[in-house]
This record gives sequence, structure tokens and C-alpha cells, in this order.
Amino acid sequence: MVNTIEVIGVNKDFVIHHERHQSLKERLLHPGTGSSEKFRALENISFAIGAGETVGILGHNGSGKSTLLKTICGVLAPTSGEIKLRGNLAALLELGAGFQPELSGRENVYLYGAMLGLKRREVAAIFDEIVEFSEIGQFIDTQVKFYSSGMYVRLAFAVAVNVNPDILVVDEVLAVGDERFQAKCMDRIMRFQQEGRTILLVTHNADQVRRLCSRAIVLNRGLLVADGPTGESLKTFRDYLHADESSPNAAASDHIQIISVTTPSGSFDVRTGAGMHFDVGVQSAHAYAGHFFMELYSRGGELISRSDASSSPVQLTPGANSIGIDIAQMPLLDGVYDVNLAIVDELGQNVMAWSEKAATIQVSYDGREQGIVEIAPTITQL
Ligand SMILES: Nc1ncnc2c1ncn2[C@@H]1O[C@H](COP(=O)(O)OP(=O)(O)OP(=O)(O)O)[C@@H](O)[C@H]1O
Ligand SMILES: [Mg+2]
Repeated sequence: MVNTIEVIGVNKDFVIHHERHQSLKERLLHPGTGSSEKFRALENISFAIGAGETVGILGHNGSGKSTLLKTICGVLAPTSGEIKLRGNLAALLELGAGFQPELSGRENVYLYGAMLGLKRREVAAIFDEIVEFSEIGQFIDTQVKFYSSGMYVRLAFAVAVNVNPDILVVDEVLAVGDERFQAKCMDRIMRFQQEGRTILLVTHNADQVRRLCSRAIVLNRGLLVADGPTGESLKTFRDYLHADESSPNAAASDHIQIISVTTPSGSFDVRTGAGMHFDVGVQSAHAYAGHFFMELYSRGGELISRSDASSSPVQLTPGANSIGIDIAQMPLLDGVYDVNLAIVDELGQNVMAWSEKAATIQVSYDGREQGIVEIAPTITQL
């Protein structure tokens, strides 16, 4: 496979200035005083991305995701190391980057096109398509400083996907805009995948990563801590999430573990409409009152169901605990589904234990209904 992005030993330092003199007058009187400190936002990052890959980048706030994307796009120069790109790249960076607020949407489209190396004539040829995709309508001639954040992102996304890039880099922006537009963006990104383009995606949305990416990279405090299949990387990401020292429950979370999932028959095969029971073994170092939930994912990475943690309290005692899960009637039709299990705190804000792909269930169905779930409607002629 040909690599389209190569990141080789990249470091990025920022210099942070600490002003000793606080007032403007003092600063004018004593220019150049105060100390400065180097802060390493990216440390020895290396990876390569092949043509046609979609790779997710995960990490806490401040872990260096945006900085990494900016160095890849050439907006920031790395302090050391090297970045090699093959093909042309269109980027959707954080809100605020890119457009000139004083210019109209129309002028910005031309400017953005020029930045991506397109001639005016080439932008003119795709202009109507861009405006149509963005749904900006008559506001295309309004200064973008009057745009809402949703309009801004819609226009930026429309330009980036219509300029025919080999590499698309997206930082977070898919979280902006209403659900319908988000769905439209997702469709477009999936089309990009089918067309064999390379996509690099930063998002906090684990579901999005699961749906779109077969591979994910995890950054933690500027270091690359995982690079591999999405499921594995998500697990690492969650582990770092628990290990965060600033979390008051960090100490507790180290000591609760989901260690086993079994069924009475030993099989994870089930027929549609039949009941299913799981026994979950949980090891806890201490007594803990938390909540339990279960997620089911399709092999396509789509969330099929996440149970309501708030209605499932569990009281863990020190040592081995057993939790039962009962599904009265399996509503799913034929397919293979992955199960994730979790124990969260009472507010549902901190994950205390997480088991990614704790089990895989195979559902078989002998009826004629098609799709994902059995609805079995009763049809009556009145
Ligand atoms: N221009 C800058 N000058 C100084 N420090 C910066 C600069 N840009 C980013 N940083 C610092 O670098 C670190 C990484 O920032 P970055 O924006 O890359 O994080 P991120 O992973 O994108 O976070 P988020 O999830 O909040 O978007 C942060 O500590 C941030 O404060
Ligand atoms: Mg960011």
C-alpha cells in the first residue's frame, strides 16, 4: 500500500511566556522581562497512513490532536521531525481557522479554493455545488462574521469535500451543525471512503470512530500511546480516561474490573425471539455503589443499543461479584453483534470499569422478516 501521510519523529514545542510585570505600563517600561518556558505538545510522533485508510485520532482535551493535524496540514511547522504527504489535502480544522470574517461566504470560497491550489476557474466550476451542499442559500453574499457556527462549518465542509482532495483531514467539526446535516456529512465521508481517499478524523465521539475507522491512534499528553485496530485503541483510550489523576475516582477505578462473561450453556448463539442470560464476573477491591450498562454493536460499527445505566444500580462488595443480564426476547434478526460492558459511577460521568468486546453474540433467525430487528407487525384489513 502506498503511504499518503508519513509522520516521522515529529516534536512540537510551544513557548509560553510568563510576564513578571502585570500592568501595561510596567510592561512598556520593562520590555522583554518575564520568563518563558518551553512546552512540548507533541513528542516523537511517528506513524504512516496508507492510501484509502480512514484513521481516527482520540485523546483527552489538550492531548495534542489539533496540534498534530495542524502540523500535518502545514499550518504549524514541527519543531523537529518530518511530515511527508502524497496527494493534495483539504482540511477542516477547528472552528475559527480558515475563513476571513470580513469577507463574504462567496469570497471565502474562492480564497479557500486558492489556498488549496485551485484556479479561480476551477472554483467557479464547483461553486454552485458547494453552495447547494452547504445550504447557505442567499447568505453566501453575507460576511461570514455574521454566520452562526453551524453555517460556518457547513460552508467549510462543503468546500473541503467538493475540491476533490486525495486526503481529507477533519478536526472535530462533525459535532457542529444539526443532526440532519451531520448525517449528510457522514454520508459524504463514507462516499469518500468508497472512493479510496485517505481520511484523518479527530473526534471525541467513540461511536463515530467505530462507524468510520478501522484504525485509531490515541494521544496522551503529546505522546502516541496506541495505534491499531479501533476496538483496541478505544480500550486504551478508556484506560487512560480512568487513569486520569484529576479524576476523583481514579483510585477506585483501578480496582474494579469486569473479568468474565459466560452464558449457562456456554454458547453465545441465540435465536431471534429466544431469551438470553449472561453471567458477568466483576472483581472489586472495595465496596462500591455504581451502575451497570451494556452496549450492542453491529459488525458495521453501528450502535444497536445502549441500556439505561440509571435504572441498573449495582452494589459491589469487596472481592468477586456476579451480575446477571437477562434479555427476555432477543429482538435482533440474523447477525453478529459485539457486546461492551461497563460500570459507571452514580452520576454516569466516570467509567469505573469497561470491557470492550466482552462477548460476541450470533443471532439466527428462521423467519422471513428483513432488517435488523423483529417487529412482527399484525396486519389487518379493516
Ligand atoms: N499556539 C499555542 N501556544 C501554546 N500552547 C499551545 C498552542 N496551541 C496548543 N497549545 C497547547 O498544546 C497542547 C495541545 O493542544 P491541542 O489543541 O493540540 O489539544 P487537543 O488534543 O486538540 O485538545 P481538544 O480536545 O481540547 O481540542 C495544549 O496543552 C495546548 O494548551
Ligand atoms: Mg483540538
